[in-house]
Amino acid sequence: MFQLNAEQYDTLYATKDYEREAHLLRDHLSRLDPSLHTVLDVACGTGAHDEHLCRFYEVDGLDLNPDFLEAARRRNARGRYHVGDMRDFRLDRLYDVALCLFSSIGYARTRVELVRTLTCLCEHLTPRGVVVIEPWLTPEVWEAPSVRWDHGGSGSDSIVRMAHSSLREEGTDSVSVMEFHYLVGSAKGIEYSRETHEMGLYSKRRMESALIEAGFTDVHHESDGLTGRGLYVGRVGRTNS
Ligand SMILES: C[S@@+](CC[C@H](N)C(=O)[O-])C[C@H]1O[C@@H](n2cnc3c(N)ncnc32)[C@H](O)[C@@H]1O
Repeated sequence: MFQLNAEQYDTLYATKDYEREAHLLRDHLSRLDPSLHTVLDVACGTGAHDEHLCRFYEVDGLDLNPDFLEAARRRNARGRYHVGDMRDFRLDRLYDVALCLFSSIGYARTRVELVRTLTCLCEHLTPRGVVVIEPWLTPEVWEAPSVRWDHGGSGSDSIVRMAHSSLREEGTDSVSVMEFHYLVGSAKGIEYSRETHEMGLYSKRRMESALIEAGFTDVHHESDGLTGRGLYVGRVGRTNS
């Protein structure tokens, strides 16, 4: 889980154009079926997509991080936000669309967890439901070991992050391991913190087969996507009750 608080997370990604991405998503969804109306944003973070999507859809969300969900509730006051683990959750409602954006699906670290997550998403969709996944990187493009840095915000509200990335093979699973080191600026000064994130790397073939195993049909990959990472789209192949 991110140790950064919601405000710091938003500072780190201050230049990410969530509004543009929400419009692109709406275009995709309208082309698939203009009558889609209810959306569950899984691993929704601070609700930065939802803030814009809620102009067109009824949007609820789910995330592990309660602090992020507080921010999401402020951004989309009509949405219902649930603390939960995408690999194993049960809500009392079905949705027309399940989203899992900005590579959050990688937090399903192994193929077993991936199928479990996608099955949970499928079980929360109406019979005409659609899943949209913005994936994490594939093993083919993962460069490790490597060191990168990025930053967000400006002046006294800024964050610098350096990441050391490596690869761990666990049986047939490839896991990307990132050691993040943060320098977090505020009016009080500069604080240092660190955290490790582990995310599953899935090839296109592995992701598509997991979607099918989870119960989706018409599974396809759209290379354009929202941010260059592509999008997987699938439809419900069996009816939920
Ligand atoms: C890269 S952030 C993306 C957040 C948001 N979708 C966005 O576009 O800004 C990944 C999110 O996944 C959440 N997350 C990680 N593991 C999770 C899990 N097992 N179940 C639910 N959420 C999880 C984190 O708390 C974080 O909010």
